[in-house]
Amino acid sequence: KNISIIGVPLDLGADRRGVDMGPSAIRYAGVIDRLKKMGLDIQDKGDIPVTRPHTFTETDNHKYLDEVVEANTRLAEAVSAIMEEGRFPLVLGGDHSIALGTVAGVAKHVKNLGVIWFDAHGDLNTGETSPSGNIHGMPLAASLGYGHERLVQIGGFAPKLKPENVVIIGARDLDAGERELIKRIGLKVFTMHEIDKLGMARVMDEAIAHVSKNTDGVHLSLDLDGLDPHDAPGVGTPVIGGISYREGHLALEMLADADILCSAEFVEVNPILDRENMTARVAVALMSSAFGDKLL
Ligand code: ARG
Ligand code: MN
Ligand code: MN
Ligand code: MN
Repeated sequence: KNISIIGVPLDLGADRRGVDMGPSAIRYAGVIDRLKKMGLDIQDKGDIPVTRPHTFTETDNHKYLDEVVEANTRLAEAVSAIMEEGRFPLVLGGDHSIALGTVAGVAKHVKNLGVIWFDAHGDLNTGETSPSGNIHGMPLAASLGYGHERLVQIGGFAPKLKPENVVIIGARDLDAGERELIKRIGLKVFTMHEIDKLGMARVMDEAIAHVSKNTDGVHLSLDLDGLDPHDAPGVGTPVIGGISYREGHLALEMLADADILCSAEFVEVNPILDRENMTARVAVALMSSAFGDKLL
């Protein structure tokens, strides 16, 4: 695979919490060397410029709407250009609102896009249902066509995704409005209940079958808070009882074996809340599994 890395130092979707340093932390953890050592062709495109606001702004329960839309519009263009070159975009976050831009850029080139959304949360809120007003809790809803018109229309078209081509894995903190939307549109969700009951191997078999059924490529959107905070403490919205480091590796090894990914993003790494850059290092380790690194 030929991979182009792009960083998005954005934390405004998480209310200025320090995730803007995520791309630096992941680079410091050695992402380039690690993937190059695997024999992959790696190009680092640097970071997307993000406007730093002087004051807090909120629009209809969307904090920093203008800045988030601007950064994601730039990201969508950058990701689209990488796809145009026939390369694999690997996006480093940044808060999870950056999925708005990544998915927009990828969906421009992949007609029926599948998505694996690895997360403790659903990120299925809209301005009406969000308890926080933080846009990082909204990108999956907007990519499916629900929510503020400016988020839904990033990249100039909508919707980017069909509900039947999406799975969420690792959910354990879903807001009331998110549960309602999941039921209404019939979204496939593997919560921690299914992971405990069936085991990660069976969950991944089913998830891979689900997202590859009617699609031409699959995007991996991996929120580090999907992992247990014991293994990934450097995240802004930790939720206990998550996916273990080992289950995370197994999941991504199975994804690599299935060879269905066309793009990936690793988000919500917050070095301020971390211990010795552990979460960024976990992110890099998981990336190597997703790109086919083997133990033997
Ligand atoms: N559901 C909560 C909210 O809407 C938390 C979202 C957390 N999202 C994330 N990408 N970490 O505010
Ligand atoms: Mn999350
Ligand atoms: Mn909550
Ligand atoms: Mn998320």
